[in-house]
Amino acid sequence: MKIKDALKKAVEKLKKAGIETPVLDAQILLSYILKIPRWKLIIKENEELSQEIVEKFFKLVEKRANRTPIAYITGEKEFYGLPFKVEEGVLIPRPETEILVEEVLKRIKNRKNPTGIEVGVGSGCISISLLKNKPDLRMIATDISEKAVKTAKENAKIHGVDERLSIIKTDKLKSIKGKYDFIVSNPPYIPQYEYESLQPEVKKEPKEALIAKDEGLEFYKDIINEGYKLLKENGFFAFEVGYNQAEKVEKLLQKKGLKTEKVKDLQGIYRVVIGEKK
Ligand SMILES: C[S@@+](CC[C@H](N)C(=O)[O-])C[C@H]1O[C@@H](n2cnc3c(N)ncnc32)[C@H](O)[C@@H]1O
Repeated sequence: MKIKDALKKAVEKLKKAGIETPVLDAQILLSYILKIPRWKLIIKENEELSQEIVEKFFKLVEKRANRTPIAYITGEKEFYGLPFKVEEGVLIPRPETEILVEEVLKRIKNRKNPTGIEVGVGSGCISISLLKNKPDLRMIATDISEKAVKTAKENAKIHGVDERLSIIKTDKLKSIKGKYDFIVSNPPYIPQYEYESLQPEVKKEPKEALIAKDEGLEFYKDIINEGYKLLKENGFFAFEVGYNQAEKVEKLLQKKGLKTEKVKDLQGIYRVVIGEKK
């Protein structure tokens, strides 16, 4: 089978399964199997594929048609210009979370040897991006999931920041002591009643990375309460929030006397809330 025919057949299968970007997804899967960049598929479109490759390719197409996210199939996702390993059981980094990284970096760029904590490290995308862009930063990151801790440790090693990042399997901030410049988190924030309406792909991701009690506010409340004493006098919280949670999280921070700021994403939705001690 020629490359162009394999792609055509795959696109039809993906379309039928209701995949929104069938052409792109088919190309990504084939370029992943052939280990060539996507643009080369066009130049090579008349090349014959071996039977073995065709079989491998359609196995992956089948997986995608069953709504497995592309990143779980290829085992990788780009975030803040860096490749991160991901596997089933670990949340796939989202582009909107890059805003959170940006906002933390802005606030620590002039601090000397700053220290920070991340709650819910997942793949490690937030902590590792921060550490790569601030060479004198040191961090502690926590996660309740064994798989997340293992994956984040692997990613930290790959990106050469493992000596400045200590990753602990614990509940939120339990067993952490000391004073830090910031606490960052993209915690689970989806209320149970919204979970059912999520895309099938999202439902292939770990529930414990997504769902939170108390209208989705459970983690913000606990992190603010437990984390307040862990912040230095000029320390700050930086949170990613759900589409309708910014004001509620802002109020929780203000109750503690913190100065708040909200930041919008590219769609104009408040995505990040900062609370500074000052
Ligand atoms: C929305 S994901 C964020 C992952 C990653 N930081 C990112 O932005 O892609 C939330 C993370 O919190 C973790 N988590 C859930 N409950 C937790 C708890 N009680 N303590 C620490 N981490 C928890 C999940 O395992 C998951 O990795």
